[in-house]
Amino acid sequence: MERPTALITGATSGLGAEFAQQLGRSQHDLVLVARDTARLEAKAVRLRTDFGVRVEVLPADLITDDGVASVSARLADPARPVSVLVNNAGFSLVSAFEKNTAADEAAHLRILAQTPMELMHAVLPGMLARGTGRIVNISSVSAFIPRGSYGAAKAWLTSFSRFANLRYGPKGVQVTAVCPGFVHTEFHERMGANMGRVKSWMWLNADQVVREGLADNAAGKAVSIPSRRYATLMGLARLVPDRLAASAGNRGR
Ligand SMILES: NC(=O)c1ccc[n+]([C@@H]2O[C@H](COP(=O)([O-])OP(=O)(O)OC[C@H]3O[C@@H](n4cnc5c(N)ncnc54)[C@H](OP(=O)(O)O)[C@@H]3O)[C@@H](O)[C@H]2O)c1
Repeated sequence: MERPTALITGATSGLGAEFAQQLGRSQHDLVLVARDTARLEAKAVRLRTDFGVRVEVLPADLITDDGVASVSARLADPARPVSVLVNNAGFSLVSAFEKNTAADEAAHLRILAQTPMELMHAVLPGMLARGTGRIVNISSVSAFIPRGSYGAAKAWLTSFSRFANLRYGPKGVQVTAVCPGFVHTEFHERMGANMGRVKSWMWLNADQVVREGLADNAAGKAVSIPSRRYATLMGLARLVPDRLAASAGNRGR
């Protein structure tokens, strides 16, 4: 029997590498996307050996038109259908909005919102024609609190996922925004953020985030907030003034 294929962006580290691991383990063939080709190749060798699945490596810079076009072409190829799209690649900017250049902000907005939109646009027609598909968009709890342009971009992704799940879920395509809190990955180190003020109980492991995110997507949920503690916190964040909600997120700066 043909194995389903999952395409994962940002598969070299953190949550993306964990999605590759869990989807490979559940017998999905994989397409791994990121910029670092050597690291992608090394992951691919490991995944083939561990799970006996096919693994393609697709190097692409997802803040460039060419990079997004090459991944879109792979997603839209009717000869090699993709059943699961994980829009995960991302980064954040350490400085405040007014201190960044507009070009830095544009690249940041692109990878967090525009690129996932373009990749969904490429994969959806095939999924709808086949009457089945899964899209997992990695958002953040920052979508629910005032948290600069990062939170605003994640709010866009979460809102669009909610719409898309309503519209395409009944047609067989489940769309979920996975909204984690702080997760142990390379994200904060790459950003150059000082995470010393984040309490240990606020940290999640990638393994749990991906497991719960995939389960919620399989269950057809539009929004997944991994861990009971973050689900409770986000319930409370809706009730308190913006200033209070924002202060919790600001620890990671
Ligand atoms: N860690 C957290 O606390 C946390 C919390 C909530 C949400 N998130 C979200 O989770 C997602 C994954 O982040 P992570 O925590 O796993 O961070 P990470 O370990 O730094 O991984 C980021 C991934 O994105 C890829 N990437 C970065 N820029 C790219 C570009 N221009 N083109 C293509 N790929 C690019 C990186 O690969 P290359 O460098 O090889 O390109 C890497 O594979 C992000 O969307 C982030 O916003 C993270």
